[in-house]
Amino acid sequence: MELPADLRTRLEGLRSLGVITGAGISAESGIPTYRGIGGIYADRARGAEIVESLSGPTLQTDPERTWRAIADLAQHAGPAQPNAGHRALVEIESKLDRFVLLTQNVDGLHGAAGSENVIPVHGSIHVARCDHCGHEATIDPATTTASPACMRCGAPMRPGVVLFGEMLPHDVVRRMDREFAVNPPEALLVVGTSALFPYIAGPVLEARRHGRLTIEVNPGRTDLSDVVEYHLEGGAGTYLPLIAQALR
Ligand code: APR
Repeated sequence: MELPADLRTRLEGLRSLGVITGAGISAESGIPTYRGIGGIYADRARGAEIVESLSGPTLQTDPERTWRAIADLAQHAGPAQPNAGHRALVEIESKLDRFVLLTQNVDGLHGAAGSENVIPVHGSIHVARCDHCGHEATIDPATTTASPACMRCGAPMRPGVVLFGEMLPHDVVRRMDREFAVNPPEALLVVGTSALFPYIAGPVLEARRHGRLTIEVNPGRTDLSDVVEYHLEGGAGTYLPLIAQALR
């Protein structure tokens, strides 16, 4: 497998890069995606049940259902380790003057691999947060099946992830705006996402509109596949190491 020669040439001179990842980059770590081949939503009934369990209203009315759904996802993820795609992004970050990684994944594998400038737009299943006093605690999501009590104020804590129907945290939105809109990187690489959310597709469309280099790595096709300049049809573990090698 090779990169197109003209893309390799353009990557040689690159000094800044924005990356957006979704569940697909963790597929090669054994974590099922939500959509596409083998996705957990493929079983429509199970998918609907998961979405309802992982929604803000359910957390309000039946928090244990939400915590159990997260524990179930965490048990599926199990002892997943970063894969070649995660590791290639760490190498890419080390080679560039500026690198920012926006991930929708809550599995923590980018941080585990060593990526530094990461915006976890949907939070992390390894964190519980107290909306009463703001305290955050690290938890084992696979065994947390009810609201843990806040160590600081005693109030019941909530999962540290953005649930369906909830707004993105203000600080995350501000950081995304700063990194991808106010002062956008030279190029955008989107990996392993169906790009259904506007805040995910938006930066790619904007980059394309302004003539900045846009690359998608995905074995399937998405709404972005006809928008980006380069659609590399294959897995993250295959193409991201090639992109890392092409950088100087
Ligand atoms: N390498 C790269 N991409 C892959 C790989 C792989 N090895 N395997 C699958 N993919 C692609 C699929 O083709 C699909 O386009 O990864 C994408 C995964 O899409 P989704 O399952 O929809 O995941 P994602 O885009 O991250 O979902 C966004 O939706 O359910 C919510 O909050 C959840 O963060 C999630 C959000």
